[in-house]
Order: sequence, then structure tokens, then C-alpha cells
Amino acid sequence: MAEFSLPANSKITGGNNFSAPEGASRIKIFNVYRWNPDDVDATGVPKNPRIDRYEIDLDKCGPMVLDAIIKIKDEMDATLTFRRSCREGICGSCAMNIDGTNTLACTKPIDEVDGEVNIYPLPHMKVIKDLIPDLTHFYAQYQSIEPWMKTKSTAPSRERLQSPEDRAKLDGLYECILCACCSTSCPSYWWNQDRYLGPSILLQAYRWIIDSRDEMTGDRLDDLEDPFKLYRCHTIMNCAKSCPKGLNPAKAISEIKKLMVERKM
Ligand code: SF4
Ligand code: SF4
Ligand code: FES
Repeated sequence: MAEFSLPANSKITGGNNFSAPEGASRIKIFNVYRWNPDDVDATGVPKNPRIDRYEIDLDKCGPMVLDAIIKIKDEMDATLTFRRSCREGICGSCAMNIDGTNTLACTKPIDEVDGEVNIYPLPHMKVIKDLIPDLTHFYAQYQSIEPWMKTKSTAPSRERLQSPEDRAKLDGLYECILCACCSTSCPSYWWNQDRYLGPSILLQAYRWIIDSRDEMTGDRLDDLEDPFKLYRCHTIMNCAKSCPKGLNPAKAISEIKKLMVERKM
């Protein structure tokens, strides 16, 4: 059997311990991935990542994992770095891996995690610092599908109308917040993210393909007719399982594949 070993600089080491304050009675332990590219050894090489351990008094903390992370930053360790904005499950910026699953820290209740809470950045992405993945390529892929309405006809004097039935086709698509939980849980995306667009971007592509007001459907399909961009999806379904908004990118991908076949018949 093949054996794999991690490069030496990616091995995770033990980290710092932050105890709960005196008198805390309901303590929960949070183990958080830490890596800082500016934290270098004597030769100038960045040190290995580590896991820091924080004891949180749940009686003095809000109910969500993001509340605990904010509490850590505010009261225990100001160096912890993460993204967040809306704390309502809308902006997608607090996506991370909690208890082995990609999800939004702001909508993940602490009491859904049995035992210690293990927190890592989204997997298989370059880490910028601590819990912040580098999403540059992900956003470039999003830009590549031209996520805006494209038309050829003369602009009408009022808004472009859509029937209720056509509008309903966007349900299950427009709700996507581009958090990248699905793409970073997809094995095909892990191995081919340089060329495979991944579930999130393909769901967004389908959102424009199926929009009755868009007049460039053929061009959009032409652009996806590629052995890698679309056809690396092997219907493993991790994407649908991990979407914190309950969407099903795998279904959107299969609809695009169906349209590809139909237009050749
Ligand atoms: S169904 Fe397709 S997109 Fe979703 S996780 Fe599997 S391979 Fe990735
Ligand atoms: S489909 Fe779901 S998991 Fe994927 S980016 Fe959109 S909201 Fe996030
Ligand atoms: S902070 Fe916006 S989705 Fe979590």
C-alpha cells in the first residue's frame, strides 16, 4: 500500500494553552489552528502551524462558535485572525472547518459539538493566516463565469420582466452566499482546482444559464464544454452535505450536463 507523509513544514505542533478565568463552571475547550507567515525561525523560514487551546466559560459566551472565536480575540488572545462580517449567515466570510465539517461559524451552535471544538481553516486552500484561506483563485473562477445578466436585444424602457414560473427556477440558486464550504469539501476540487470550477462556481454558472432574462445561454454552455471545468464532478455529493444554506450544487451541475446533452439532440 502506498504511504504518504506530510512535508515537514506542514506538520502541526502543540501550541499555547489559555485557561478559563477563576470560578468558571461551564468550560468548553476550543482547539484552534494557528499559522502566521511572519512567525519565522532563526533562518527566516515560517514556523510550522500549531493548535492553540482555549478554555471558554460558556456562561459568559454567546451560543454560536463565532461568539466563542470573537470572545477569544477580545478577551484572551488578540492575535487570532479570522474573517467575519454579518454574523447572520449572509456574507459567507466566516466559513471554516468546525468539528470536521465545513460550515459557517456564525450559524453553528456550540452545543451541537460534543466534547472539544476543533476549528481549522477551510481545507485544501492556501492559508493566509490562522483561519483565513486564500480565496483569490476561487473569486477569479467566479469572475470567469461572468456572473451578471448578458443580453443582445435592445434594452427595454423598463426592467426586464420574468414570469413567476421562470423566477421560481432561480430558487435554490440565488441563495448561494459564495462561502466556498461546498467547493472545499469536494474531492474533485481538491485535486483539480486549477481547472475544475467546483460546485460553488458551477451552481452560480447555472443560476445565469437558467435565468430567462439572460440571452447568452448558448455562449455560457460553450464556455463550460470542457473536460475539466464541468466534467470533473463525479457526483460524490459532499457539496450538498456541507452547504450551510441547504443548497444542492450537485443537482445544478447535473442540470448543466443535461442541457449540454439536450442541445446536441
Ligand atoms: S457532487 Fe460533484 S461537485 Fe459535489 S462534491 Fe461531488 S464531485 Fe464535487
Ligand atoms: S452552494 Fe452553499 S456551500 Fe456552496 S458556496 Fe453557495 S452557499 Fe456556500
Ligand atoms: S459572519 Fe457572515 S456568514 Fe458568518
